[in-house]
Amino acid sequence: MIFADPPYNLQLPKNKKLIRANGTEVIPVNDSWDHFESYDDYDSFSEKWLKECQRILKYTGTMWVMGMYHNIFRVGKIMQDLGLWFLNDVVWVKIDAMPNFNGRRFTNNHETLIWAVKNKNCKNYRFNHEFLKQMNGGAQMKDTDWIFPICRGKERLRDKNGIKLHPTQKPLKLIQQVLLTATKKGDLILDPFMGSGTTAVVAKALNRNWIGIDKEEKYVDLTNKRISLYT
Ligand SMILES: C[S@@+](CC[C@H](N)C(=O)[O-])C[C@H]1O[C@@H](n2cnc3c(N)ncnc32)[C@H](O)[C@@H]1O
Repeated sequence: MIFADPPYNLQLPKNKKLIRANGTEVIPVNDSWDHFESYDDYDSFSEKWLKECQRILKYTGTMWVMGMYHNIFRVGKIMQDLGLWFLNDVVWVKIDAMPNFNGRRFTNNHETLIWAVKNKNCKNYRFNHEFLKQMNGGAQMKDTDWIFPICRGKERLRDKNGIKLHPTQKPLKLIQQVLLTATKKGDLILDPFMGSGTTAVVAKALNRNWIGIDKEEKYVDLTNKRISLYT
């Protein structure tokens, strides 16, 4: 299985402060790994990594790609153009999502996960339908709205000054739901954008194998440190 939470390409205006309705400043995702010159630049980056993921994905494996309205439609189009076949899209409904900056527009309180297989001929892909049924009191688990809080409290990794160690750390419960849906004990999971190591932590806890990649050494160190706490 592949779980990918790629850069969002947020394209925030330079030198502009974002102030919440209550007057406090928003510290946005403003890291260099999220900067792209243009949509074309972002699309060509997306196509490259998606192609590689499609190449290595087994016919029995599935791929999950998550994103927000800034990027998920572009990424989804590229996936379909490459021949990846969509099984579902799942909406992560975020409890405690950050309100819209100026307090006027709708709160962006969800992210989308595209669930896909290598191509449209894949039939026997891993899907723990019976197990999910058990988790759901014997009834088919049908909902594509998954409601989980954002990563908060003690789960959110911070330095001694309270600064977030990773700007987009995802909640363990979200990744747990993905892994329980689409992997079994001993399966191998690739996360090509590992960040703070959330996928690795859940994989380890559920006895799955994992490979994580991140271009920032500090996040590789963070992941290694984080998983060492779970041995
Ligand atoms: C949205 S974050 C992933 C967050 C992660 N899911 C978590 O829970 O912490 C995207 C990550 O991709 C990494 N990244 C960006 N471009 C990359 C590239 N070309 N190759 C590998 N990693 C990259 C960034 O350093 C960042 O940590």
